[in-house]
Parts: sequence; structure tokens; C-alpha cells
Amino acid sequence: MPQGIIKTMNIWKYYGVTHADHLVMNPTSEAKTDEFISLLPLKNTPNARVLDIASGKGEQLLRIIEKYDATGVGIDISPYEVEASTKRAAERGLQNKVEFIEGDGAKQDFEPSSFDLAMCLGASWVWGGHLGTIEALKKLVKPGGLMVLGEPYKLKEPEPGYIEAEPDFAPSMVTHAENVEIAQNAGLKLLYAIASDHNDWDRYEGLRLRAAELFAEENPDDPDAIEILEKQRGEHDTYLKHGRDTVGWAIYMFRAP
Ligand SMILES: C[S@@+](CC[C@H](N)C(=O)[O-])C[C@H]1O[C@@H](n2cnc3c(N)ncnc32)[C@H](O)[C@@H]1O
Repeated sequence: MPQGIIKTMNIWKYYGVTHADHLVMNPTSEAKTDEFISLLPLKNTPNARVLDIASGKGEQLLRIIEKYDATGVGIDISPYEVEASTKRAAERGLQNKVEFIEGDGAKQDFEPSSFDLAMCLGASWVWGGHLGTIEALKKLVKPGGLMVLGEPYKLKEPEPGYIEAEPDFAPSMVTHAENVEIAQNAGLKLLYAIASDHNDWDRYEGLRLRAAELFAEENPDDPDAIEILEKQRGEHDTYLKHGRDTVGWAIYMFRAP
């Protein structure tokens, strides 16, 4: 999840390659993804409008639209993800109910108070962190609307080696309880939280490594293959040595005031 330093390649290509086999681009399992979607209190909301900022492959938005009477908009800065999610919406016959837009989530001009549900799973850096994300999405949901946020949290204090490897991320983590408290202090009501375990994380991180290794094997002439592989191997090593025991991840479901 944390962002490392890219030397020359396009960062969105790196994400596209390393997430080639993920439907959900965060450490939540498929089963937990379905569980949080089934727990969204949207059954009595006709024509629900749903916004997903940093929508990735669009899987969560597509499943919400399949389950409820809803339409949606997904924004992602990566052309790779927008192309993939648009294609998948068409394959599932949802092209008239959902639109995926390429752009910076922080620079969109949506009408205030116009969504029944606004989500941001795993991209709170778009607004400078958890609180910034809460404040941004709070303006976009209707009074009493839903906000779903996916956010890392610390399981223990990060070791110096982890801080050195992830200086922009490791020192700023807060606990699971603090993620909730920050939202509550901003006026949100916690409805539910679903946390990932080691298996979920191992799958998320392992699929990234596998994808990079296979990409390098299958595309030896790609100009970015070596850089992708080196970066991904480094991130996986940091995960094994530090991240696995230090970082948790949860999807938080809140009711806006
Ligand atoms: C960890 S992935 C999560 C994707 C998706 N929310 C999910 O959980 O499956 C982060 C996503 O944020 C997107 N992203 C990064 N910066 C962004 C920005 N400024 N605006 C919109 N999307 C952004 C990336 O392209 C990537 O798809």
C-alpha cells in the first residue's frame, strides 16, 4: 500500500502490472468485500447515487450496483484502471449505470450533498490523509448518507528499519481505534468495521510479487520490466520484514451527520 519511489517508469504502469491479478486492489478478501457490501444499509434507498474515489478495477462499485438499486461514478487517476473498470462494467451489462472517469480525485467538481454513499478505499493520500478524506467526502454525501473508508492502521510502533524504508508512511500511522476516533470527532457515526488478517495481507502482497515476477519472465524486452521487478521485490521484502507485523487494514463504514 505505501508509495515508494519510482525512478523512471510510469507509476500507473507499475500499479497496473503488480495488480494484474487483483480484483480488489486492497488487502480485503473477496469474502470480506462481499460482507461489507451486504451490510451497507441501502436496501431502502431507491436510485442510490454512489461515488468511489480511486476506484481501481471498480469491483466494489460494480458489486454495489449489482446488489442495490444504485448508479455510480468511479474516479481513478490511472488510465490502466479506468480502462479495465470500464471494460468490466460493459461485460457485466452495467455500462448505463456506472461511469468511470480518469482524473485526480481531489480535483473533481461534484455537487455538494449529492451522493447516498461516498467511498475511498486505500487512497486517502489524495486528500493528505484520513481526516482530509473524511472532510472531503462528508461534503459530497447527503445528510445522513454513508461513507466507506479503507485505511491502514498500526498494529505496533514501527521499527527504525520500517521507518527508513517507508519514511512518508510508517511514522504517520495511527491505531485502529484512532482511525475510528478521528472520524467520530469529525461527527461521523461508526456503523461497522471489517479488518484484514495475515491471510488477506499475504494474498494481497503475494499476488503483487507473483505478477511482477511473471511479467518480467514473460516480457524480458519490456523497458520497465527490471525496474518493476526490483521495486516490487523491495516492497515485498519490506512487507515480510516489517509491514506484516506492523500494519493492519480495515474498511470502516460510517454514517455522516
Ligand atoms: C490501493 S489502490 C485501491 C483501488 C480501489 N479503491 C480498491 O480498493 O480496489 C489505489 C488506487 O488509487 C488510485 N489513485 C492514486 N492517486 C489518485 C488520485 N489522486 N486520484 C484518483 N485516484 C488515485 C490508483 O490509480 C489506484 O487505483
